[in-house]
Amino acid sequence: MNKTIQIAVVGSGYVGLVAAVCFAEIGHDVVCVDNDERKVAALQSGDTLIHENHLPELLNRYRNTKIRFTTDLGEATRTSDAIFIAVGTPQSENGDADLSYVEAVACEIARSLTSYKVIVEKSTVPVYTNKWIRRAIERNGVARHIFDVVSNPEFLREGTAVSDFLHPDRIVVGADSEAAAELLAAIYAPLTTGAYYAQPNAIPGACTTTTPPPLLQTSTKSAEIIKHASNAFLALKISFINAVSNLCEATDANIEQVARGMGLDSRIGPRFLRPGIGYGGSCFPKDVAAFRSVADGLGVDFSLLTEVEKINVSQKKRFLSKVRTALWTLRGKRLAVLGLAFKGETDDIRESPAIDLVEMLLAEGSSITAYDPAAMKRAQAELPASPQLRYVEDSYAAAKDADALLVLTDWREFATLDLERINTLMRYPIVIDGRNLFDPKTMQQHGFTYLSIGRPAVNPARELESAATVSV
Ligand code: UDX
Ligand code: UDX
Repeated sequence: MNKTIQIAVVGSGYVGLVAAVCFAEIGHDVVCVDNDERKVAALQSGDTLIHENHLPELLNRYRNTKIRFTTDLGEATRTSDAIFIAVGTPQSENGDADLSYVEAVACEIARSLTSYKVIVEKSTVPVYTNKWIRRAIERNGVARHIFDVVSNPEFLREGTAVSDFLHPDRIVVGADSEAAAELLAAIYAPLTTGAYYAQPNAIPGACTTTTPPPLLQTSTKSAEIIKHASNAFLALKISFINAVSNLCEATDANIEQVARGMGLDSRIGPRFLRPGIGYGGSCFPKDVAAFRSVADGLGVDFSLLTEVEKINVSQKKRFLSKVRTALWTLRGKRLAVLGLAFKGETDDIRESPAIDLVEMLLAEGSSITAYDPAAMKRAQAELPASPQLRYVEDSYAAAKDADALLVLTDWREFATLDLERINTLMRYPIVIDGRNLFDPKTMQQHGFTYLSIGRPAVNPARELESAATVSV
């Protein structure tokens, strides 16, 4: 029988809110804390605020039973056994992670600590943060023996965050005390024993009762480094395949064949080898910068990470050149943009390469008609609509009278568009695909000039004769 544990999660953003509903889903009682009153009020009324698969259904299931929302961190601390810190750790100007929210939360927790509690770092933080949190709490007059600080990094991806949480490849617990490690093991026991997967309405995924996820116990410092190193390595994998895709373009080879050939090597693996317009989001850009900054601070040369960033930035510029190659000049051109989120299946536009590209194209004097299935509200808050930038209700409205259509986010719904209809709507049937969503042959058959990443460009079959004079 798994034990119900009283859990507080501080920070109700993409990470905290998902962790909170998932803790409720595996049987614990959860109080969610946020210092944003409007957010708390919205969550209390059942609004999830973010676009995330399974989140509405789980919130609905547990709201007012196993999960409640408050702005009162003191009360949440007093009534919980474990307090997870999941507030933002944004990038500061010099690339370091800004830990001021984490520090503020630690100090506030300290004011309400009267009996033994485990404080858990869930936010992505640099190595030694654990030590700093401990120090901050002790400086507020709390005795050393009534608390422990552990590191339990999160590896969830936006869009699939709930199933990533409930079906993780691994659970990492960095703890320097047995009592704290045991509490964390008890929290995750429904997953690690496989009991959760036997429930009839368990969220489906890769783990099963017979293949539950492993829990890896490490030192706090190792756990902190595991998180940064994992994100930096995934970013490196993406920059590497982007660089290889550029080589493919220079040689007329095909990145899909190359990535497949590489990925079949089990030492490399097929995932995170999709070329595109560069990685974005709230994690990779800031975590690569923060990890490099950690290395710099410790006198360790990790300039490899600088190269990872360099390739990522140049990937966007290369895409812009590709648009220029297809259209010649950009001023006055009317472009359809499909996708504004930093990747498909999310409404998040933080560090979105799509938003960067829209800004670059506007600066070049193009006018844009944009559509995204979930991120338009957030995009409009960042880039307000204007005569030069219009937001429309679907992909077909975006394509109407366009000189070219650009695919900037890998939404599944874009891959199933009616290509015949798109072609008829456009002024010129030119598609420049930053996410390789379409098959070049199919695009050619549908009469498009089609440019993608790391694959030979194609012209419509009927234009092949004139390709000798004008070629893209
Ligand atoms: C953030 C970080 O970006 C990531 O590195 C970390 O791993 C987890 O936290 P995310 O959940 O996406 O990820 O951030 P965000 O959506 O901004 O949510 C943070 C929440 O914390 C917000 O709701 C904010 O209101 C809240 N917050 C912030 C507090 O409750 N207290 C504070 O002092 C600061
Ligand atoms: C990432 C990590 O995957 C996750 O483990 C961590 O907890 C948080 O950061 P997330 O930012 O939600 O998750 O998205 P992810 O799916 O990793 O994609 C990040 C960026 O890389 C996106 O812009 C995506 O489009 C891009 N990407 C991803 C590629 O360009 N190619 C790929 O093959 C994979």
